[in-house]
Amino acid sequence: MNLFRGPALGPVSKLLTESGLPAADLSPAHLEHFFATGAPEQLTGVVGLEISGDVALLRSLAVAADCRSQGLGQELVAAAERHAHSLGVKELYLLTTTAQHFFGRLGYRDSARASAPAAIRATREFAGLCPASSAFMNKTLSPGPPRR
Ligand SMILES: CC(C)(COP(=O)(O)OP(=O)(O)OC[C@H]1O[C@@H](n2cnc3c(N)ncnc32)[C@H](O)[C@@H]1OP(=O)(O)O)[C@@H](O)C(=O)NCCC(=O)NCCS
Repeated sequence: MNLFRGPALGPVSKLLTESGLPAADLSPAHLEHFFATGAPEQLTGVVGLEISGDVALLRSLAVAADCRSQGLGQELVAAAERHAHSLGVKELYLLTTTAQHFFGRLGYRDSARASAPAAIRATREFAGLCPASSAFMNKTLSPGPPRR
């Protein structure tokens, strides 16, 4: 797997749009905490984090349709979790309409939207881009030194 940090906006937007995920709010500044797989102009997978102190929104997880069910999705989530942990993030949050079971298998638990920290509520994804019917999930990252 060719995993790299900081993919370009064009290829990220293309993969997200093809995967039915919102990309309208993304700017180049977001991409510092994004990871991708594949070639820089032809991504096979992407995942991103919006980090605010010790919490972060995990977002924009997509794997190209012809590359699914090979473990890429799990690898991307694991990379985002390692990165978040290395920056001192303790709690990850996400919204999903399509992948609740996928994230459940990775240790994410259903959570009440009302319990979301202010920094998560302030993200555009939380505030409006994702439908109100989306599942809201969270995962506490294990304490201790960052995993390798
Ligand atoms: C969700 C997604 C990223 C998973 O990517 P992937 O590379 O296929 O994931 P993996 O290969 O790591 O899948 C691991 C397991 O989860 C399963 N799985 C994949 N998508 C799933 C889903 N939406 N719901 C339940 N299980 C799912 C796979 O079948 C696989 O199980 P298996 O190992 O028993 O076959 C991909 O299906 C996708 O891009 N979907 C469209 C965009 C999307 O919904 N993103 C999530 C928004 S937050």
